[in-house]
Amino acid sequence: MNIKLINKNIADIKADIKVEFLTPDELKKHKEFKLLNLTGFKAEQDSICFLHEKGLLFCGVDSKKSDDIRSATTSMIKALKSSNYESAVFGALKANSLAAMVEGVVLGGYEFNDYKSKPKENKLENIFIASNELDYKKLKTIFKDALIISNATCFTRDIVNTAPQELNPLSLAYLAQRLADENSLECEIFAEDELKKQNMNAMLAVGRASIHQSQLIHLAYKPKKAKKIISLVGKGLTYDSGGLSLKPSTSMVTMKMDKAGACSVLGIIKAVSELKLDIEVHAFIGAVENMVGGDAYKPDDVLVSRSGTTIEVRNTDAEGRLVLADVLDYAQEKVDADAIFDFATLTGACMVALGQYTTGVMGHSHKLKHEISKAATASGELTGSLPFNKHLKKLIKSEIADISNVSSKPYGGAITAGLFLDNFIKDENKDKWLHFDIAGSAYTETPWDCNVYGATGASVRFMSEYLKNI
Ligand code: BES
Ligand code: ZN
Ligand code: ZN
Repeated sequence: MNIKLINKNIADIKADIKVEFLTPDELKKHKEFKLLNLTGFKAEQDSICFLHEKGLLFCGVDSKKSDDIRSATTSMIKALKSSNYESAVFGALKANSLAAMVEGVVLGGYEFNDYKSKPKENKLENIFIASNELDYKKLKTIFKDALIISNATCFTRDIVNTAPQELNPLSLAYLAQRLADENSLECEIFAEDELKKQNMNAMLAVGRASIHQSQLIHLAYKPKKAKKIISLVGKGLTYDSGGLSLKPSTSMVTMKMDKAGACSVLGIIKAVSELKLDIEVHAFIGAVENMVGGDAYKPDDVLVSRSGTTIEVRNTDAEGRLVLADVLDYAQEKVDADAIFDFATLTGACMVALGQYTTGVMGHSHKLKHEISKAATASGELTGSLPFNKHLKKLIKSEIADISNVSSKPYGGAITAGLFLDNFIKDENKDKWLHFDIAGSAYTETPWDCNVYGATGASVRFMSEYLKNI
C-alpha cells in the first residue's frame, strides 16, 4: 500500500472513496446529516460509516487533535482494508495532525503475516492525502519525517514479532549488520570469546544455558557535523524463559518480546540516519537468550560484573538488569555521550504501576525527564515518571555481595530495577542517563490506538521526536 501527499485540492484527486473526519458537532451541520442520522452514525470517536453510493466514508472523532485523528485514521484504514476499494483520499486538516494521519495509516494498517500461509488479501493500493490550501512545503517535510519514523516503528515491530526459533542472538546480530550496511552505519559485533575478554560476566552468565552464543552489538551513526552524542542501550533477550527461576507457562508466552528494547534501539538509529539528523548516535545491544540447562546460572550465584561490582543472583528471571549492567558499563567506557538512554522490557511491576500503555521513565535528571515527557506528548506515546528514593534503594542491598538482583520487598519493582541499573552508571553520567521500562508498552494482545496485535514499536516515535528537536 502506498501513501502519498498531493499538492492539489481534494476535489481534483481521483480516488474510489473520499474520507471525512467529523466531530459530533460537525455531523449535525453536515449536508449528509439526514442520511448519516438514518444509519445511526453519531460521529463517536473511532466509529465509521460508509455511504457507498456516494463514495464517502465518515470517521467519527471527539476532536481534531492529533491523538484523536491518529486513532480515527486507524479505524479508517482497517475499514478500508476489509472493503473492496483500491484507493482513498482525504484532506490534511492541519499541519500538526498530518503526522498522526500517516501514523494511523502506516501503524494502524500494519500486519505481520510472515507465518501465515494465506494472508488475508486486500485490494487497497493507494492512500492520497490532499494538501488542500495549506502550506505544501511545510506539510511535505512533516509527511516525509512521519513516514520515516512510522516505517522505522514497523521495522522494530517486525523484529519483535519474529518467532524466537528464528530470531536468536546471532540472527539479531546479522540483522543489525544488515541495517548497518543499508544505512551506512558503523557496526561492531562481539561474540562470547570477546565478551569474556571484556569481563562481561553478568551478561555471559544469563546466556550460558542457551545453545545460542550471546552477542554484543554496537552500531554507530556518525554524521560529519554532529552537535551532540547520544548512546542508546537495548535489552535484547531474544527469549526469556526465566531460567532456573522458571516462568509459569502462561507468563512465558509472549516472552519473545523481551528483545523489544534492542529492537527499538535499532528502529531509532534507523530513523535518525534516514532523517539525517546532525547528532551522533550509538546503539548498544546485549543479545542473549535466558534458558535452563545443566550449566545454567543459578539463584545463589555471585557474579562479578564488568564494572567490578559483585551481584548476588536471587532470581534468574531478573536477568535483563544483569545484561544491561554490563552493556551500560561498556557503553559508558566506549563513548563519552551527552546523554545515555536505555530501553528494556524490564519488569512486570512497571505495568502494575502505570498500566499497559505507558512507558516508565526513571533517572536523576528532572530536566531530561521533562524534555522526554514533552517529546512523548508530541509524538502520541504515553510515558510516566517513576521516582527514585533512598528507601527503595536499600531494598537491593545484599548480605554477601555488593548488590542483589532482586528487591527484598514486593512493592516498587520497576523502581528497584531502575535503581539496580543506577549502580552501573558512573557518577559523571548520573544526570545524563534515563531508563525506559517498556514492559507494558512494547507489546499488546488487544489493539489500542494505532497499535495492532503484537509488537507496538514503543519508544521509536517519542525518541525520534526528542532527537529531532535536540
Ligand atoms: N522480561 C521480564 C519482564 C516482563 C514481564 C516483560 C512481563 C514483559 C512482560 C523480566 O525479565 C522479568 O522476568 N522480571 C521479573 C523480575 C522479578 C523476578 C524481580 C518480573 O517482572 O517478574
Ligand atoms: Zn526475566
Ligand atoms: Zn526479561
